[in-house]
Formats: sequence, C-alpha cells, structure tokens
Amino acid sequence: MTDRLAVSADENINSIDTDRLLAALGSRSIVLVGIMGCGKSTVGKRLALRLGLEFVDADSEIERAANMTVSEIFAEHGEPYFRSGEERVIARLLSEGPQVLATGGGAFMSETTRSQITEHGLSIWLKVDFETVMARVRRRATRPLLQTPDPEGTMRNLLAEREPVYAKAALTVTSKDVPHDTVVDQIIITMADYLFQDGDSVASQTSNT
Ligand code: S3P
Repeated sequence: MTDRLAVSADENINSIDTDRLLAALGSRSIVLVGIMGCGKSTVGKRLALRLGLEFVDADSEIERAANMTVSEIFAEHGEPYFRSGEERVIARLLSEGPQVLATGGGAFMSETTRSQITEHGLSIWLKVDFETVMARVRRRATRPLLQTPDPEGTMRNLLAEREPVYAKAALTVTSKDVPHDTVVDQIIITMADYLFQDGDSVASQTSNT
C-alpha cells in the first residue's frame, strides 16, 4: 500500500505531523524567496520556531561576513559586488541545512543560486500583492534599490521582472495582509501536501491565504 497522505489546503493545521514533515525534508533547507517586504524574515522566524529549526537570514549573514550593512555594500562597492557575495554566502548556508533560510529579494534571480537551492533546499515563494508590499517597505526606508525618485514605479518594475522567476520556486504561498501565523500555517500545509506525496513528484504547488 502506498504511504500517501495528501493534506488538502483547508485541512486543519493540527492534523499535520511535523516530525514526519521534518523527516521528509531531510537535510534540505526551507528557502523563502520573494520581493522585499513579503515577510521572508518575519514569517521565516515564526516558521522556524514552529518546526524547531534554526532561522538564518542571508542578508544578515552577508552583513556579518562583510562587516558592513547591505546599504553600505551597495554604496561603497556596487550591486554586482553585493550579488557575488550573496551567491557565495547562500551557497555556504545551503550546506548547513536543515534550517529556514530567508533570502534577499534579488537572490533567486541568480541562476546559480536557483540551481543550488533546487539541489539543497525546498524553495517557497511568499507572493504578496503590490499594496501590501509598498505599505511594508514604506515603514523601513533602508532598501538601497528603492532609493529612487519613484519607489512605487521601481517596485512595479521589479515585480514585473521578478515574479516570473519567483514562480519557479517549488511552492508558492500567496498571502494578503493576514497575521504572520496564518501564513506560517499555510506554508506548513502546503509543504505537507508536497512532501507527503511520493518522491516530491509534483512540480509546483500553489496555495492562497
Ligand atoms: C534586495 C533585497 C534586500 C537586500 C538588498 C537587495 C533586492 O533584501 O538583499 O537590498 O534585490 O530585492 P530583502 O528582500 O530582505 O529586503
């Protein structure tokens, strides 16, 4: 008999066996991808706590390695320098799974990083609508890419360019402005649905919150 437990999206979160989920995950990292302000760090921390995993933020690790903030790296060395550091740091972090890894919004645009994530991780796109993202990034004006005369236009362009790439993530969780714990529930349900199927054979799964 096949050991199959497909969990439907409306099934109660409490019915999911997280030990079984972690066993199916193995040494892979849960890698959160998506645009700035989509909640990768906030949701990631809560997800890690819920699953008993370490939480690692790639941007913080880059800052630690460089002993500079992301803004300083952009200002003093430029974006290409930041991107190559980002690739190296994420490659190193991926060898340290399982963990919940929040990536910077541009990291998944690198083909090298994407293929390493496919090999050593389970990628989840946190898909958030434009208004929610703008409301969040306005609260923290530290993102170098949004230091433009028209941050809204810049964000629209970034979303248009990046969303087709984020969509290559193994899983997608769409959230509006709902509590972070609701997004965490949805991630766990979506992961269970995917991991409890034979051999992760389903190419891509989407869930809406
Ligand atoms: C970037 C997003 C930032 C940070 C850097 C570049 C991007 O991370 O890596 O400012 O290219 O979208 P967050 O997505 O955590 O804000």
